[in-house]
Amino acid sequence: MTLMTAEFPQSRLRRTRQEAWCRDLVAETQLSVKDLILPLFVREKSAAREITAMPGVFRHSLEDVVSFCQKAYDLGIRAVALFPYTDPSLKCEEGREALNPDNLMCRATRLLKEALPHLGVIVDVALDPYTSHGHDGVLRRGEVANDETLEVLKEMALVLARAGVDVVAPSDMMDGRVGVIRRALDQEGYQNVRILAYSAKYASAFYGPFREALGSQSCLGKADKKTYQMDPANAREALREGAQDLLEGADMLMVKPGLPYLDIIYRLKEAFPLPIFAYQVSGEYSVLKAAAERGWIDYEKAVMETLLGFKRAGASAILSYAALDAAELLKKDSG
Ligand code: PBG
Repeated sequence: MTLMTAEFPQSRLRRTRQEAWCRDLVAETQLSVKDLILPLFVREKSAAREITAMPGVFRHSLEDVVSFCQKAYDLGIRAVALFPYTDPSLKCEEGREALNPDNLMCRATRLLKEALPHLGVIVDVALDPYTSHGHDGVLRRGEVANDETLEVLKEMALVLARAGVDVVAPSDMMDGRVGVIRRALDQEGYQNVRILAYSAKYASAFYGPFREALGSQSCLGKADKKTYQMDPANAREALREGAQDLLEGADMLMVKPGLPYLDIIYRLKEAFPLPIFAYQVSGEYSVLKAAAERGWIDYEKAVMETLLGFKRAGASAILSYAALDAAELLKKDSG
């Protein structure tokens, strides 16, 4: 592209940056509270518990999940993504609790859909909150078995659909999961349940605090998820993942983590006519919080800058643990 621009001194790029009103008029990207999805952790026991590595983020009990989401909804947040803290006694090799129609996710969904029918409810499809070994699928001969796992994920998606979730989000990275889930949902009459495919999900160090929140880190131990999650070195491979998910019936594609993968958001957006979602994951949030607690960065400004960065890269929506903080800041800004 040839840049059509005059030379200095006719052209002075600082001219449009002089006052706030002018900067606002020429801003290329807008961040709205309508773009934000709040991920939250649900636990059985009463009273919320703060997650050590994620200051300001709590595991909410079933009793307070509705009032917490009401607060988010009142601030304009459109959807929540729920994750369970499963009691260790309910975990097993096969992750059976994932198929229990009365598990935490199903009960939280029913409560939320009844109390806040206009708030979107998204739930992950993957076995890691439920397996004693912490992997996203079932193990056969020490390996995460793709095709056997698909059978379980299919049932899991149906259990969630029956409980009323609006969006299922396969985050397991098994090959073929989107197609299997789409067909199963359609056969049972859940044509309108959407699939948000974690298409480009990388084997990342930034999931650490999330695994603490779920209690899956201790199960996983020294093991990693590199045989199914993507290698951070690869970008073209993300296009194959995206293409496959599109052909299998995904409604939206997700890139995860966020900040180290803005190029992937941009590429997927260019390549596919599907909405691209970004997940600013737990470790990204913790990094911002920790630096701010030491007085090294301004948390509010840094959060807003990262969220705007996702929009600029091409994300339609952003999952972020800072969503509530951002919603409050956006409200203050417009008020
Ligand atoms: C599990 C899952 C993970 C996250 C979302 N779903 C972790 C993992 O794959 O180990 C990470 C989210 C975060 O770090 O905030 N399938």
